[in-house]
Amino acid sequence: MAPDLLLRPAVAPVPVGLAGAGPWARAVHAPTLAAGPETRLAGVWSRTTARADALARAHDAPSLASFDALLEVCDAVALAVPPAVQPELAVRAARAGKTLLLEKPLAPDVDGARRVVDAIDEAGVGSVVLLTYRFADVVRDFLAAADTFDATGGRACFLSSAFLSGDFAAGWRLEQGALLDVGPHILDLVDVALGPVVAVQAGGDPLGWVGLLLEHERGARSEVTISCTAGIDPSRTEVELFGPGGTLFVDARSGARARSFATLRRELAETVQSGGGHPCDARRGLHLQRLVDAAHRALGGTRVEVST
Ligand SMILES: NC(=O)c1ccc[n+]([C@@H]2O[C@H](COP(=O)([O-])OP(=O)(O)OC[C@H]3O[C@@H](n4cnc5c(N)ncnc54)[C@H](OP(=O)(O)O)[C@@H]3O)[C@@H](O)[C@H]2O)c1
Repeated sequence: MAPDLLLRPAVAPVPVGLAGAGPWARAVHAPTLAAGPETRLAGVWSRTTARADALARAHDAPSLASFDALLEVCDAVALAVPPAVQPELAVRAARAGKTLLLEKPLAPDVDGARRVVDAIDEAGVGSVVLLTYRFADVVRDFLAAADTFDATGGRACFLSSAFLSGDFAAGWRLEQGALLDVGPHILDLVDVALGPVVAVQAGGDPLGWVGLLLEHERGARSEVTISCTAGIDPSRTEVELFGPGGTLFVDARSGARARSFATLRRELAETVQSGGGHPCDARRGLHLQRLVDAAHRALGGTRVEVST
């Protein structure tokens, strides 16, 4: 046995229950959680039993008949369901004392997101929101550099063809649009890189093209473009800062996905142990929900200050 394996303490993998068996659960949640070593997939529940059965079978995990049954077999719950469904399940899981792996956006609206945060606070459980890019080394390096970069302003974009065809071109996404779906990702990155967003102006259509002009607490401004109907491949998630010292740029998609999700898995397990404190926790998700809400309201043509 290798010497480092002899020295490493044997820690049992955290049992994580997965609610949802849709495209994202199949592509990311289930394989990431099942791969270990920090977690194991303790069970799968989904609204449609046949889908839960198939996903559970693919990862040699049990399929559970109800969400309550799922809660009984795990220490943490991963939710991979639409925003309208997530708050109710998150509240039930928090009240059962489970650490939560949540999806972005937390909810369809600020009230729903606040209900999730309140339940988590009352239960004293930890949470992690799967803000995919925040788990990539390249993004973490960029945000660390941004912390000391004197920025006057910035530009950012989230552009993809997701609404044109494929798994994501359906359901709530085509009803509610790109601002709710992918807005949390890109708003999160600019809000960290340039400081908290305090006001938003906006134009466009969440089912087509949206342009945002953001004011940041530290005085910088940024322009953010969001569209999921751009027929491009690959998609783009980029942030660039500008200041007297030049520019700072990140292609947030250049990070290795497998490595990012391994980081997520490790940090979820650490959050179960510590009981909280992750920078991408539900409270962060609530802040992003407020930004998305402000951006939607700003589409009406007025400058909107972000509520706290
Ligand atoms: N972090 C990221 O980068 C990222 C990327 C993609 C997606 N996501 C998020 O992941 C979540 C899941 O996305 P998705 O693409 O897999 O598709 P989705 O349509 O948002 O969710 C599909 C899953 O939700 C279940 N579901 C739908 N309506 C339900 C209801 N009324 N009650 C209970 N369950 C319901 C479906 O159950 P059945 O099929 O079993 O009926 C299926 O398991 C979303 O919140 C999305 O925003 C995040």
